[in-house]
This record gives sequence, C-alpha cells and structure tokens, in this order.
Amino acid sequence: MIPVNSVLQVGFFPEIMQLEIDRRLVPVSMLDPKGPVPDRNVKAILTRPSFTINPTLLDQLPEIKMIACCGVGYDNLPLDYLKQRGIIASNTPGVLNDAVCELTIGLLFGLLRKIPEAHQFVLQKTWAAETFPFTTSLAGKKVGIVGMGRIGQELAARLLPFKVEIAYHGPSSKSLPYVFFPSLMDLARESDVLILTCPGGKATEKIINTSILNALGPKGYLINVARGSVVNEDDLISALQNKVIAGAALDVFENEPNPKPAFLSLSNVLLAPHIGSATQETRQAMTNLAIDNLEAFFNHQSLPTPISI
Ligand code: DGY
Repeated sequence: MIPVNSVLQVGFFPEIMQLEIDRRLVPVSMLDPKGPVPDRNVKAILTRPSFTINPTLLDQLPEIKMIACCGVGYDNLPLDYLKQRGIIASNTPGVLNDAVCELTIGLLFGLLRKIPEAHQFVLQKTWAAETFPFTTSLAGKKVGIVGMGRIGQELAARLLPFKVEIAYHGPSSKSLPYVFFPSLMDLARESDVLILTCPGGKATEKIINTSILNALGPKGYLINVARGSVVNEDDLISALQNKVIAGAALDVFENEPNPKPAFLSLSNVLLAPHIGSATQETRQAMTNLAIDNLEAFFNHQSLPTPISI
C-alpha cells in the first residue's frame, strides 16, 4: 500500500496514464516542475522523462527517498545528486520495446518509401498528371544501430526479415550475431541507414555531428528515436540542407515540444512528436510498472526495475 499524500507527481501525464495513477494512488500534484512545492513531506516522486528533476527541486523535499520515472530514459534525473543523498530511483524498461520498435520501423519505411509524400500526392490529385518519383528499397541495405541495448536488440531482430545486414556501435561488444564497430565513424561509413537507440545523457551528447554525417554520406539516412541530445542539431540541419545525407526521420529533439524551426522547412525529413512509446497499451503498462516500483518501495521490497545509480 502506498500511504496517502506520500507521492509527489511532478509534471502533467496524458489522460490514460493519469487515470491509472488516480486508480492506484492519491498523488500530491505539482504539474509545473518549476512551480512551488505543494508538500515538503512527500517521500517519493512520480514523474516521466519529459520533466527535468533538478537539485533545486529536491533540496526543497527533505523526505524524498525514491523517484519513479515513467519511461525508460532517465537523463532527466540528477544521478550524482541522488547518489549523494541516497535517493533510489526506478524506470520502466522492457514494456515499451514493442512500441518503440514499431514506430522506428514505421519511420524507416515512411522515410525511404516517402509514404507521407505519397499520401499528399494522392490527396492533391497529382497522380492523374504525374508519376510518383521512385523511392529507396530497404532490402539489401546495411543498417547500423547505435546503442544495442534492449530496444536496439529487439529492433535488429525485427529488421532482419527485411533482408538487411545489421551492425552496431555501443560502449562494448555483446555476444550477438551482428558486427560490432568500436568506432561510430566506421559504423557510419559502412551504413546506409544509421538508427539511434542509445540512452541520452553526457556519454552520448552530440555524438552525431558533421564528421559522422559526412561518413554516412549522400545516400545515407539517419533515424533518431533515442534523445535529441544525441545529435548536434545544427550540424544535422546543415547536412540535410546541403544533401550531405539523403534524409532523416526524427521522433526526438533537443527542444521539445518546439523543435528548431529549420527542421520544419526541410523536404528530406520525417518528423514525429516523441511518440515512440505513445500507444495506449504501452503507456498503461509503463504507468503500472512505475507504480509497482513505488509500491515496492513503500512495502520495503526490492524495486522491480531499479536504476543503477
Ligand atoms: C522513454 O521512455 O524514455 C521514452 O522516450 C518516452 O519518454
């Protein structure tokens, strides 16, 4: 049981998630993470990756012992500070793999086969006068995955039946049947499509820059379902404008929900509003897992999905 008024909900949650939260606990709400703290005595926080939990907020909450983040990425949490204060934390890995892989594959085909443009072509009745331009096949291509964690591995398994070759880059080689590239530059040079599924945070900040995009080359495509911070967006915009790469599909941006205006005027991008995990089934499962973690904490049990701090 979670004691009443013991959990501070930081940030707005979409309706289906809020219904689940309200069914299972009575949170103290703080919908604006920069606003005043409503109750200094709360023991745990429930939040999601769109909201940054900073030390200034936590300094005002002397009783906080646990943070449940309703998302797999936790680059919104100040891990060094949590360690110092002995605050534990959890995320929601696993339950969103299917949804993120589905969106990634959707973006991949949308980009290569120009599905949004084809839709417009039919709607605008251009079809009667012109032939839709030929697009690019996925079969036979080399796909480089940056970040071969849970999502990367599930994505690779789903992509193989499309007759691609898979290779990957990450902090270390894993016992997987794909070629490991210790150098991201070498992976980019070898790939037709580079897909980012790595965590955000310091270690991956802006690792996709002009040199990597040059290596990917004019026939190369970039797909980012990881975090906006992984890409140097100015470098990417310039590469797209100058056809240094063929195109990009982006579900994540440095400044959400207001991506750089230059992205909106490019003809070789497919953009999505950070919806990798945004299916009803997945968001419900994520919310339940986040609350399972809170329950475990209040029942003095080990957390089902702790973040290692
Ligand atoms: C996550 O869980 O990290 C996804 O990006 C959704 O926010």
